[in-house]
Order: sequence, then C-alpha cells, then structure tokens
Amino acid sequence: MIEICLSSSQRFSPSTSVATSTLKILSVHSQSNESSMSEKKQNVYEKRGYAVTSTANAKKIAQDFLQSQSPELKKVKFGLPEADDRYHVWRIPVLDPSKDRIGEVVVNAKSGDIDQAKSSEISVMIQKFAEHTPTETPAKKTSDRRRSVIARSVLRNTLVQGDAEFTLAELPAESVDLVFTSPPYFNARPDYTEYAAYEEYLGKMRKIIQQGHRLLSEGRFFVMNVSPVLIRRTDRNKASRRIAVPFDLHRIFIEEGFDFIDDIIWEKPSGAGWATGRGRRFAADRTPLQYKAVPVTEYVLVYRKRTDRLLDWNIRNHHDQDAVQRSKVEDGYEQTNIWRISPSYSKFHPAIFPTELAERVIRYYSFEGDVVLDPFGGSGTTGKVAYNLKRKFVMAEMDSDYVDLMKRELTKTMGKDVEDVNFIGCSPIDSSGSLI
Ligand SMILES: C[S@@+](CC[C@H](N)C(=O)[O-])C[C@H]1O[C@@H](n2cnc3c(N)ncnc32)[C@H](O)[C@@H]1O
Repeated sequence: MIEICLSSSQRFSPSTSVATSTLKILSVHSQSNESSMSEKKQNVYEKRGYAVTSTANAKKIAQDFLQSQSPELKKVKFGLPEADDRYHVWRIPVLDPSKDRIGEVVVNAKSGDIDQAKSSEISVMIQKFAEHTPTETPAKKTSDRRRSVIARSVLRNTLVQGDAEFTLAELPAESVDLVFTSPPYFNARPDYTEYAAYEEYLGKMRKIIQQGHRLLSEGRFFVMNVSPVLIRRTDRNKASRRIAVPFDLHRIFIEEGFDFIDDIIWEKPSGAGWATGRGRRFAADRTPLQYKAVPVTEYVLVYRKRTDRLLDWNIRNHHDQDAVQRSKVEDGYEQTNIWRISPSYSKFHPAIFPTELAERVIRYYSFEGDVVLDPFGGSGTTGKVAYNLKRKFVMAEMDSDYVDLMKRELTKTMGKDVEDVNFIGCSPIDSSGSLI
C-alpha cells in the first residue's frame, strides 16, 4: 500500500496550483511488506536506495497525483514506467483511452516526490485527453493482435536485372524481412549513374523507398548506407558543393511511412578521406574560413516500417522460433553508434561496401532464414554475406556488367548452390561460373 502525506502547503485540491504542489511519498511499503522484504532478496531499485521500488508504486503515485490535479484526468491510463538511473527518476507515460501518449509524470525515485519541472504540463495533458478520438475499433485490434505467426516469405535467393523501380514492383508485398543497400551516388561517379537534376535523383530514391516499404514485412527494417556527396568545382573561379543527401533521404523515409531508429556512423581510418581532396587547401595555408573537414564517415541510417507493434511482437511471432534462437548475437558485438570499419575497394566496381558492414547489419537486423533485399546490388556484397549468414537474398541491379560480376562473386561464395538461384531478367549460371 502507498502512504501519501501532504503538508498543509502541499495539500492537493482541484484548485491547487500545478506549479507549487508537491506530492510526498513517505513510505511506499506497508509495514508487513517491509518485514517480509527484509527476508527477501533486494530488487535492483532497492539496491539503488530508491523509495519507489516497483513499476506498480510508480504508477500509483502518478495516478494519485493526476487525480488530485484534475477530474478530467481520472480516466487516463498509464504505460510501463521506466526507471532512469542517470537522474534517479521514474518516468510514467500517461495515455489516453486509445493508448496514445499524452504526456508523462516524472517521480523522484529516491524521495517519491513528483518532479513537476520534468513532468508534462497538466493543462496540455487535459487538452490532449479532450482531443482524443478513437482511431481503431478495439475489436479489430484484438483479433489482429491474436495473429500468432508472421508468414514465411515465398521468395528464394534471387538476382534480378533491371531498374529496381520496376523490377521490385513485380515481387509480392511483405515478402522481405530486411532491406540493406547503398544507393548510387548523385552524379559523384559518372561510371554508373547520371541524373539531370538532384530532384530527379531524389524522386528515383523515393520510388525505391516506396517499393522497400511495400515489400517489407510489418515492423521490419530498412537500413541505408549513404553519405553527403561532393560536386567538384568545374573551374578555379567556382566553389565545389557538398550535398547533404542523407538528410534529404531522411525526410523521404519519414514521408513514406518509416520511423527513424538510428544514425550509425561508419568511421573509416583517417587516411581514407584525403582522397576526396577536401581539407588539402587548408592543410597547406591554414587560413580561417578555408577550413574543410576531411570526411572519414558515412551514415548507416536505420528505419523501421511504421507500426504500432513492439519489436517483441516481431520476435514472438516469427515463423521459426528455432531460427530466432540460433540468430542470437554473440559477445563482442558493436555497442555504440560508431562503427570503425576499413573501406573496401574492387577493381571491378567503384563503390562497394565492406563485407564487415554488411555482416553487422544483417546479423543485428535479421534472423536466419529471413530474406534480405538489396535494390542496388552492385558487386553482390549483400547477397554473399546473407548467404554466409544463412539468410536468403534478393538483389536487383540494372547494369549488365555488374550483374555478370555478381554472378561470378556468387559462384565463388555459393559453389553448387548457385544453381538454385532464381535469375530474373538475365541468364542463369552453372556452378562452374560460366554464364549460360
Ligand atoms: C553504390 S553501388 C552498390 C554497391 C554494393 N553495395 C556493393 O557492395 O557492391 C550502387 C549500384 O546501384 C546500381 N543502380 C543504380 N541505379 C539503379 C537502379 N535504378 N536499379 C538497379 N540498380 C541500380 C548501380 O549500377 C550500382 O552498381
């Protein structure tokens, strides 16, 4: 039981000012609880010396506080309280009847006081609660949530030649479990793509992102390796330009129904950036304003197909629970959003990404047996790594030279298994690597 004690200046009434009221929790346990607790093992919150030692305690404090503040907030619901051990507070999400978040109550975990400066404004929560309109009928939600298994993809290892905007449109909806790709650079290398205007380039990327959204299974990830591009100056009187492609693509991802999850920084050894020519002038004369940072990073942007389901739902309802167990990531995985990986080069393709980058993405964002799509297959790195990690791959590529390169690379990696690859828009290969 929770015992709440208010001093006369702190007593709540509907007219109590939100700014001045303070809720003091003297004791969050009943006497009998306390005696039995001393015999029990201390939980993590007790070990931290918290007065508020469980999610139930935290919820009750938030509930009593809101009820004392306004009758309109009597019907609010609460999400799962989280203890933030950096600030020693509990954060209790406040939800409307549709379980949409309308604010949060923050409780000092050590004293049990409401931290009003950090909590959402009462007036704002009242307004949001009043504005609530049910968006889904509960019946639909319930039956949907009973869906026990997410269907297995019908796709097998596939290589498709052609413009991904159109070739991907032929594949069935919700048939891939992860998209990982690195798009062509906007005009950076005339070797393989030229777009008349940047807007045209972005329009093309939007089409591919739309296809990715259609093809992805609910709640799964689209991971894109991308970086700003440098447009070199055409003569000495003109400045070079840098285009922040990742930020423009970010907006498109959000507009096309993805949630932003992570911006991972792929950091290369410092020598790698000097090849761009950036920073050389400043290195020579050190005049302020001429400073240009030598680029040694690229982004690995992580998005999730928008859903109201938690990741737990994706994990629990995966069609192969043994695969889920087998796919657990071992110790030594990368814990931060800075991934230090050396770049890879190929004499056959100007812009491949390193195997290690693909390995991390595929291990962290898919399970064995899942289908990984790369709309811009290039030399086939995604497919080779997917195969080695016991995933399936679907790769699209429009340049016939790179399709041939992919066939050779896949043959080296897959041996006889390459004969089972489904080739669309191009001729198959046999395991000796000869193009049929
Ligand atoms: C940055 S490279 C990908 C390299 C790949 N990640 C690798 O490791 O080899 C982009 C590739 O996309 C291909 N490409 C460009 N536009 C395309 C399109 N509309 N459809 C399919 N492939 C395309 C290019 O030919 C190029 O091989």
